[in-house]
Amino acid sequence: MVDHIYLDYAATTPVDPRVLNAMLPYFNETFGNPSSVHRYGQQAEAAVESARETVATALNCRPDEIVFTSCGSESDNLAIRGTALAMREKTGANWILTSRAEHHAVSKTAEQLKKHYGFQVEWLETDETGMVSPETVERVFRKDTAIVSVMYANNEIGTVNPVAEIAAICRTHHVPFHTDAVQAAAYLPVDARSLGVDLISLGAHKFYGPKGIGMLYVRQGTPIFPLQTGGGQESGRRAGTQNVPYIVGFAEALRLTAEERQQRIAHVRPLRDRIIGTVLEEIPDSRLTGHPITRLPNHSSFTFKGMDGNLLLTLLDTAGFACSSGSACKTGNPEPSEVMTAIGLSREWGLGSLRVTLGAGTKPSQVDAFLKALPGIVQQARALNRG
Ligand SMILES: Cc1ncc(COP(=O)(O)O)c(C=O)c1O
Repeated sequence: MVDHIYLDYAATTPVDPRVLNAMLPYFNETFGNPSSVHRYGQQAEAAVESARETVATALNCRPDEIVFTSCGSESDNLAIRGTALAMREKTGANWILTSRAEHHAVSKTAEQLKKHYGFQVEWLETDETGMVSPETVERVFRKDTAIVSVMYANNEIGTVNPVAEIAAICRTHHVPFHTDAVQAAAYLPVDARSLGVDLISLGAHKFYGPKGIGMLYVRQGTPIFPLQTGGGQESGRRAGTQNVPYIVGFAEALRLTAEERQQRIAHVRPLRDRIIGTVLEEIPDSRLTGHPITRLPNHSSFTFKGMDGNLLLTLLDTAGFACSSGSACKTGNPEPSEVMTAIGLSREWGLGSLRVTLGAGTKPSQVDAFLKALPGIVQQARALNRG
């Protein structure tokens, strides 16, 4: 049995042992409900509020602008549906502007708002690297826009968008701007003030925190309705007893990420560059997807002409490598993902995508082993595809 090599850090990361240690006391020692009046409750509440302050420091914002949620997807839902509904009530605005390369947590929310809530959606085109330009946003802007949402960094192809410039345009139109920073937060500073955005989604499991905990930054004064109604937790923006150990874990993971950002980048970037250089040089009919420079430092992504990306993943897994693809196929009727279509790839290219994402545990020897094995495995996948 080959030792398995994990090259899918954009899907999720292992919990940092330091994060786990910070969380443990909050399962059964300091276990109170933060809403309770007694001292058990006060201790739990102190932990949540201290975590909120840590997160606010990392985001350069006020603690009361942080709303803890259950994941990145929930944060995206709360930002878009919560703000679209509140803006419509406030101003009558009913357009949603979002890009064609968003994560489904954003795009499916926009589609639902169109289908069931009577909103209109303007899909922003990207260029061939998946980037949304500020000019595109300016060109299609409508005065009755309720919210604009453009991701900070793309999960499938790693491209980093000019969100500060897009935020500035939205500000001149007095329209809230949301960015999904779920992928970006592991490597890019998420400074709410200097980005100038109104809503930011994060999820802890992309930066060595636990799964099942997220956060939405809501700039003071941004209109937003809660999606989950009930108790008054999170200043009435998200009902439900707070997940104290996971909130503590979220804060510790984000604090460590901010503190260790430069070392983490220095570790992954040269390995990523080696992967990109070698793949493009050694594998015929291969292309890099996403931006060649303005991309996440741990992220490499490719397409191979005339290949089934899912077959490639299966062969890679059998050979001991855990990677990912952008194809939405789980059913035997493969279709290129929306992102592959947004960047203009034909079906012939769009089905053969591969994403290789690195992290703290990636060793140079693992990258060597992967690069040694990949050309043969691609060849095998192509032969099986033809056969
Ligand atoms: C860009 C982006 N947005 C949102 C999500 C959803 O986050 P979660 O898994 O925490 O719901 C992901 C997860 O892959 C993502 O990459």
